[in-house]
Amino acid sequence: MTPDTYWQSATEDAEMQDEHAFIWSAMLDTIDIDLTGRRVLDAGCNRGGFLRLLAARSGISEGYGYDPAAAAIADARRLAGSSALTFEVGDTVPAGWDGFDAAFSHEVLYLLHDLRGHADAIHRSLAPGAPYYAVIGVHAGSPGIADWHAENGDKLNLPALYSLDDVIEAFTGVGFAAAASRLKVGFVPLSAHAPSFPAGLSYFYEHKVMLRFTRPRA
Ligand SMILES: C[S@@+](CC[C@H](N)C(=O)[O-])C[C@H]1O[C@@H](n2cnc3c(N)ncnc32)[C@H](O)[C@@H]1O
Repeated sequence: MTPDTYWQSATEDAEMQDEHAFIWSAMLDTIDIDLTGRRVLDAGCNRGGFLRLLAARSGISEGYGYDPAAAAIADARRLAGSSALTFEVGDTVPAGWDGFDAAFSHEVLYLLHDLRGHADAIHRSLAPGAPYYAVIGVHAGSPGIADWHAENGDKLNLPALYSLDDVIEAFTGVGFAAAASRLKVGFVPLSAHAPSFPAGLSYFYEHKVMLRFTRPRA
């Protein structure tokens, strides 16, 4: 199976963002906090679609997104309109971005060579007690992903394929408390990126998970 979420190039960004809308919606159905009036970070925001959804649906007060893909960030800024959304080009949390009430990422962790450095940067950016919800389907336990990674890892300059345990260890290692949930996914649009039944459904229902890393209060 081809994973829905792999990132190949900026030329595919617009198409990818359209196809991620149902997952972003599932993410909002899965989280266990109310985002109304909250300041939220999206790591690896690409064209900012998830933050625009949060602004429209969840009543966040401010949204911040960063991504190393400069063209995607230019699009994010243009598409933000008058929403209270701020975007920066970068491969880690920009300096001075802190005190967030919640952070998110969707299919970004598998791209990161320094997972622990990312965990540390997110930890510093969150207010005490705040959660980081990170969604990942591209991990060693997902059927078919090891083959996909073997074929594409060098081309995409990917790190070694992480297991969920590797990811959890990186985050608990910098002081987060970890928890996990299935995503509350309903209908899965069938498309070139998510073509197959039933394998496609089991990917979204079973293997693409939401990890919750909470910064302790003290
Ligand atoms: C599969 S896409 C997911 C994009 C977006 N989260 C979504 O839901 O559509 C992966 C994104 O991670 C970004 N990325 C790559 N390296 C990164 C890094 N070090 N920190 C943050 N984002 C990164 C890519 O530029 C790309 O936009």
